[in-house]
Amino acid sequence: MTSGTHAVTKAVIPAAGLGTRFLPATKATPKEMLPVVDKPAIQYVVEEAVAAGLDDVLIVTGRNKRSLEDHFDRALELEDALQAKNDNERLRRIREAQVLADIHYVRQGDALGLGHAVLCAERHVGDQVFAVLLGDDLIDRRDPLLPSMIDIQRRHGGSVIALIEVDPDHVHLYGCAAVNADPADDSVVVTDLVEKPDPAEAPSNLAVIGRYVLHPAVFDVLRDTAPGQGGEIQLTDALRALITTPPENGGGVRAVVFRGRRYDTGDRLDYLRTTVRLAVERSDLGPEFRSWLREFVAELEATETER
Ligand code: UTP
Repeated sequence: MTSGTHAVTKAVIPAAGLGTRFLPATKATPKEMLPVVDKPAIQYVVEEAVAAGLDDVLIVTGRNKRSLEDHFDRALELEDALQAKNDNERLRRIREAQVLADIHYVRQGDALGLGHAVLCAERHVGDQVFAVLLGDDLIDRRDPLLPSMIDIQRRHGGSVIALIEVDPDHVHLYGCAAVNADPADDSVVVTDLVEKPDPAEAPSNLAVIGRYVLHPAVFDVLRDTAPGQGGEIQLTDALRALITTPPENGGGVRAVVFRGRRYDTGDRLDYLRTTVRLAVERSDLGPEFRSWLREFVAELEATETER
């Protein structure tokens, strides 16, 4: 097994989940295609990968893959119509998605879990360190996270995950990590991982978020990983096995504790919050939206005082 010394160039974006929390919107559309203001969530994620130097992107698709593939493909009829109207700004915006990256697709036949989705990327990734970005988890472009994860992987080898501090009452919604500080480094050493723990049994309030820089050794482990929580093959279980794998075999897991802005668009409430946050910051929509929002909040407060 090589230690994956090449520069990281490949990103894998699993988008084959069932998206049950968002039904019925996700009945015929992957949740990664839901718009955040006016762009599908997954486009923000592809843009983040490209900004970190990962311009070979593999999207793991499930049922309803058509809309994903179409989004990153040319749309000749639409281009012709916009060209005829001289609508160059919209033309530019639809072409953006087409030229962003070298995008590939692989099919996950059954939604057997995130770990299984990552395993579907093995043939494309080969024997190289690669990044995994969850398509419904957005990192604000002003707070780049992937470059520091790639740097930590380059310095220490093994795999690198990203953690955020959450309210202890919410830890059961995430994978949760036990860590040891490394005073000499800006990363921490992961000593245990538990998927969606009971708050009483959680090793910390550090929750795993959807960015990973993985050693290819993860594929060997995933192949032998039995279904865990919810009957799914969990990436967290494979990462736990990598914690105790010797470094010469690609083992070892470090983490970055991320303190920047992150938006979870797979959860309905967070999705609404994300849309509002990103819309108020837009130079084209922000000013008008912000003044409407102020009036709306004032109205809400007035009706609540009346009650
Ligand atoms: P989630 O845990 O959010 O699951 O997956 P989900 O099924 O998509 O959504 P809910 O919980 O039913 O609403 C985390 C990420 O892993 C992908 C999802 O698309 C999402 O990006 N995933 C999950 C797969 O690609 N395949 C799977 O089998 C499971």
